[in-house]
Amino acid sequence: MGIERIVSTTVPEDNKEQEEIIEKSLRPLSFDEYIGQERMKNNLKIAIDAVKKRRASAAADGDDADKNATLDHILLYGPPGLGKTTMAGVIAHELGANLKITSGPAIERAGDLASILTNLQDGDVLFIDEIHRLRRAVEEVLYSAMEDFKLDITIGKGPAARSVRLDLPNFTVIGATTRTGSLAGPLRDRFGMLHRLEYYTEPEIEQIIARTANILNTKIEPAATHLLATRSRRTPRIANRLVRRVRDYADVNGDGIIDAPIATRALDLMEIDDLGLDPADRNLLRLMEENYGDRPVGLNTLAAITGDEATTIEDYNEPYLLQIGFIERTPRGRLITEKAKQHLHNNKTVV
Ligand code: ADE
Repeated sequence: MGIERIVSTTVPEDNKEQEEIIEKSLRPLSFDEYIGQERMKNNLKIAIDAVKKRRASAAADGDDADKNATLDHILLYGPPGLGKTTMAGVIAHELGANLKITSGPAIERAGDLASILTNLQDGDVLFIDEIHRLRRAVEEVLYSAMEDFKLDITIGKGPAARSVRLDLPNFTVIGATTRTGSLAGPLRDRFGMLHRLEYYTEPEIEQIIARTANILNTKIEPAATHLLATRSRRTPRIANRLVRRVRDYADVNGDGIIDAPIATRALDLMEIDDLGLDPADRNLLRLMEENYGDRPVGLNTLAAITGDEATTIEDYNEPYLLQIGFIERTPRGRLITEKAKQHLHNNKTVV
C-alpha cells in the first residue's frame, strides 16, 4: 500500500515544502480518525465493506468473477479545504489499496492519461483532483476506461491509423471537484457514488484543532480551541493553518502554550476577524458595497475590480460568504446583504 503523486509540479520553496509535509502528517488515515462528514462516511463504509466481503467470499470459493470486485467510482464535490483529498486517502487505506494522485490540469494529453492508466494495478485507487478541468479529449478516453476498464487508443496517423482496445486493470476513480455543474454529463454519469462535502460544525472543527495541536505536540487551552474554531470558516484546512500560525506566535511571543489571549493577538496580527474573514474577503465586500450598494454585480466585474481571478472568488471567497448569508446569488449577479454591510461597519478598525 502506498501513496504516489503523479502530478508534475515545480520544486516548492523550503517553507512551502515544510508546510506540505506537516499538512500531510495531519491527515487522518482511517474513518475512525476522520472527524465529521458522518453521512458520507457511513455510506462509504458500507460500499467498502461490501467490496471486501465479495472479494473474501470469491477467494474462499474460487469464484473468478468477484475476485476483482472493485469499488464503484466516487465523485466528491464541495468547497475547497473540506477534506476531499483526505477522504480519498482514507478510502484507499480502508480498502487496502494503493492511491495514485493526479489532477485535471496535470493530464495534458490523452497519452498522459493512457500512461497513468496502463501503470495501474488491479484494485488501485486513482484520485483525480479538479476533475472538472480535464480536457475534452482526455475526458473521452476516461469514459471507456471507467465504464469497462478498456483503453481505446489510436496508433499511427492518416490512412495507416488504427484503433486498438487494451484491457486495463480494475481500478476506482475518485474524482474531486469544487463544482459539479462544470462536469460534463457523461463523465458525471460514470460515477456510482456522488458525495457532497458539507461545512463542518463548530464542535467538529474544535475536535480537529485539538487533534492537530496534539499531533504537533502543542498545548492548547479549551478557550483558545473554541476561539480558533469560530474563526476557521468551518473548514479544516483553514483550522489547521491557523493552529500552525498561532503555534508559531506562541513559540516566539510566549511559552509555547496556546491560550485565548495569545490566540487573539495572533489572529489580530493576521487580520482575521471574529467571523474568520480575512482582508481579501473584506476587500471584496467593501468594493461591492462602495461600488454597487444594492445592485447586483457580475462575477467577472468583481474579478476586474478586486484584481483576483474569477475562479478564486468563486471557489474560495464566495462559498463561505454565501453560507453565512453575506452575499446572495441572483440571476443578474452577486448582491451584498445588509448583514454583511453591518459586519463591515462593526469591523472598521480592521482593514
Ligand atoms: N484534518 C483535516 N481534515 C480532518 C478531518 N475531517 N478529520 C480529522 N482531521 C482532519
